[in-house]
Amino acid sequence: MPDKKHEKSKVRIDAHSGVPTTGHEWDGIEELNTPLPRWWVWTFWLTVLWAIAYTIVYPAWPTLSGGTHGLFGWNSRNQLTQEVTQLQVTRAPIFAKLKNASLEEIEANPDLLSAARMVGAAAFANNCAACHGAGGAGSKGYANLNDDDWIWGGHLNEIRATIEHGARWETDKATHSSSMPAFGRDGLLTPDQISILADHVRTFAELPDTVAPTAEGQKLYDDNCAACHGIEGKGNTELGAPNLTDAIWLYGSDKPTIISRIKNGGGGVMPAWSEKLDEITIKALSIYVHSLGGGQ
Ligand code: HEC
Ligand code: HEC
Repeated sequence: MPDKKHEKSKVRIDAHSGVPTTGHEWDGIEELNTPLPRWWVWTFWLTVLWAIAYTIVYPAWPTLSGGTHGLFGWNSRNQLTQEVTQLQVTRAPIFAKLKNASLEEIEANPDLLSAARMVGAAAFANNCAACHGAGGAGSKGYANLNDDDWIWGGHLNEIRATIEHGARWETDKATHSSSMPAFGRDGLLTPDQISILADHVRTFAELPDTVAPTAEGQKLYDDNCAACHGIEGKGNTELGAPNLTDAIWLYGSDKPTIISRIKNGGGGVMPAWSEKLDEITIKALSIYVHSLGGGQ
């Protein structure tokens, strides 16, 4: 420790820069006295004070039993609860209207319609997009909800019934339950007959590479398939039998896919949402799906 007096005596003005030295010197190298500007030091201490005050006012310090609560007891969880309550209060009137209005009334009223679409879109993203895709475009085995081709019907009430009760959902008594028989697996038709039928069905949709329809194919179709898919193959929404004459295929229009359908039958499973979602959400979803493009 160099003694102070000795140091003071060594303070001088640096000839080169004109700045006083601190008096510290190491092997002939001297330190210039250039303190931080006042304003900077003050700002620094203010921020330190601010930080300390902040941790006193707001919950900050961990303690053995949890943490400090801050001067006013504010916390983000309470704030969220307050905001949610506030939202429920402001939305209550529109939700009450959604609850009491029929689906047709909701569609006819622009305010209710836009509220229902908003609630429906959110519920769709949470519950339906996993199977039907983000925009409802579907995928193999999962119905496209954008087009105007409906397996179980595209009227508002039909859509609602499908959402409420699902398809082939065993725990719901009102679920859409009819399925396509497994003609091959259950030995109802021979592989040859199935192949002829596949060719025949493909003529309905006028697919580019189809063979000409045969009388044998027609008879097999009339005997085995027409009851559900209709004489002309236009399908039946009561039975969930898809239209076979259009370009929209649930599973695919190539011959091997159609053969596998006829062989294995069955049908896609769609959950019954009345078990999980409340009435308003289901109404909103029906409106949303109906408005996706192909509502009838
Ligand atoms: C686990 C997968 C899955 C989820 C999740 C799902 N669906 Fe489905 N949905 C299906 C399948 C599979 C079908 C086709 C049923 C069939 O083949 O008969 C279907 C069919 C439908 C249909 C009938 C389409 C038509 O052409 O008639 C509607 C409407 C529908 N779903 C709406 C919804 C809504 C709304 C939700 C969300 C609340 C939802 N789905 C969630 C699998 C699902
Ligand atoms: C009891 C009613 C019923 C009968 C009879 C029936 N089907 Fe189906 N078929 C259905 C149902 C229901 C579906 C839809 C399955 C699903 O939703 O996953 C279907 C689906 C199909 C599909 C798939 C359509 C697509 O869009 O991918 C084809 C192809 C088909 N049937 C052909 C036939 C042929 C050929 C016969 C006669 C041998 C036949 N069906 C008899 C009810 C029937």
